Amino acid sequence: MLLDDIWTLGIYIGVYVVFILDIVSYVTMIFHDRYSYLTAEGVMTSVAVLRWEKFDFAWQQPANGELSQVLMVSTPKDNVPYRFEFSRVDCKRAHEIVASHINVEENTKGDVTMISLSNGIKMPVIGLGVYKMNAGDEMNNAIKAAYDAGYRLFDTAQMYGNEKALGDALIANGIPRSEVFLVSKVDNGNQWYQETMKSLHETLDKLQTTYLDSFLIHWPGQNKERMLSTWHAMEEAYQQGLVHSIGVCNFEICQLEFLLAHCQISPMINQIENSPLMHDTELTDYCKTHDIRIMAWAPLQRGKFNDTLAEMAGRYQKTPAQILLRWNIEQGIIPIPKSKNPDRLRENIAVFDFKLTAEDMKTLNQMNQGKRTSFDPLTFDF
Ligand SMILES: NC(=O)c1ccc[n+]([C@@H]2O[C@H](COP(=O)([O-])OP(=O)(O)OC[C@H]3O[C@@H](n4cnc5c(N)ncnc54)[C@H](OP(=O)(O)O)[C@@H]3O)[C@@H](O)[C@H]2O)c1
Repeated sequence: MLLDDIWTLGIYIGVYVVFILDIVSYVTMIFHDRYSYLTAEGVMTSVAVLRWEKFDFAWQQPANGELSQVLMVSTPKDNVPYRFEFSRVDCKRAHEIVASHINVEENTKGDVTMISLSNGIKMPVIGLGVYKMNAGDEMNNAIKAAYDAGYRLFDTAQMYGNEKALGDALIANGIPRSEVFLVSKVDNGNQWYQETMKSLHETLDKLQTTYLDSFLIHWPGQNKERMLSTWHAMEEAYQQGLVHSIGVCNFEICQLEFLLAHCQISPMINQIENSPLMHDTELTDYCKTHDIRIMAWAPLQRGKFNDTLAEMAGRYQKTPAQILLRWNIEQGIIPIPKSKNPDRLRENIAVFDFKLTAEDMKTLNQMNQGKRTSFDPLTFDF
């Protein structure tokens, strides 16, 4: 009788221990380094992260003592990290601090060429734009030279008519899909929900891939209903895992404000014309505050260099193009210079062995003429 009782008790204890171990192995409450700067800067009293299998739930407790609130849930499901804001927390300052911590320096620790988007996915800090690059040898040779030189981000668009050429070039050069970050953009004529979804599938077919790393709205236009319908398709594509991040191009502050006020998922990128000759500090500050990563198009000013640039380049033993690219990179902005010339491709990515002084950054900022090389997003429509 006594032996039976001991045996039963043993089984109970065994089951209980296994149960506890099981729970502990799945659920661990940790204070996450990733969010510790919030507490360090006194905005939050505590930030806790509950990690359960592949899910990452983060809570924040504002320093003013209000109830803890869910900041985000990221689920790297199938290696696709998602980020949902569960409540629009009144934590503007927290967002500013988050944005200010997401910079090149912080994110380049293990990997000198990557930067994080707001949903946690990483992208290269520089890329190759393929606007006006022709199919066949021109594209194939440029992609080969670019890949060999270290480029891992390629920026195309439905509008450029060369998505198929880029897809062919990646395959012809044996470049693994997983190694590159592919960006494309919905063409103006393909906006609205149905058309955007349909055109995305065409883009994927042309690029011969099952997903894009980033999909952007090419131009905002002046029709707000169309903008939201198109954005709804972008959100849907993101949730379906067809695109790993979503964003916009050429959006001004008022257009971003409108989108942020009406979206479920905030844009992660705004691709704008950005160079010393043409930049808008208010817009770039707004994007940084709202955790929207900026990509710079025409970062080489479409080849317009001046004497000040030449003099500065001489002092650094660099070229004017390298000075221009570094100006963007030092602000955490991703330039996507276009070149089909192998020597220039190598030159344009050799920008990680020097840093511009604060004084030179100021001189470059002062070159601003505010003159666009393309349409004005506040008036351009289609
Ligand atoms: N979202 C948008 O609305 C939008 C608009 C425009 C562009 N983009 C994207 O941004 C990318 C870049 O912009 P972009 O092509 O207009 O202008 P860019 O990159 O500023 O300039 C490209 C021009 O500079 C030349 N170049 C390249 N490297 C050079 C160097 N080291 N020294 C001297 N010249 C050099 C290129 O000629 P070679 O090819 O002969 O080297 C080409 O003529 C595009 O390809 C596209 O992907 C987006």
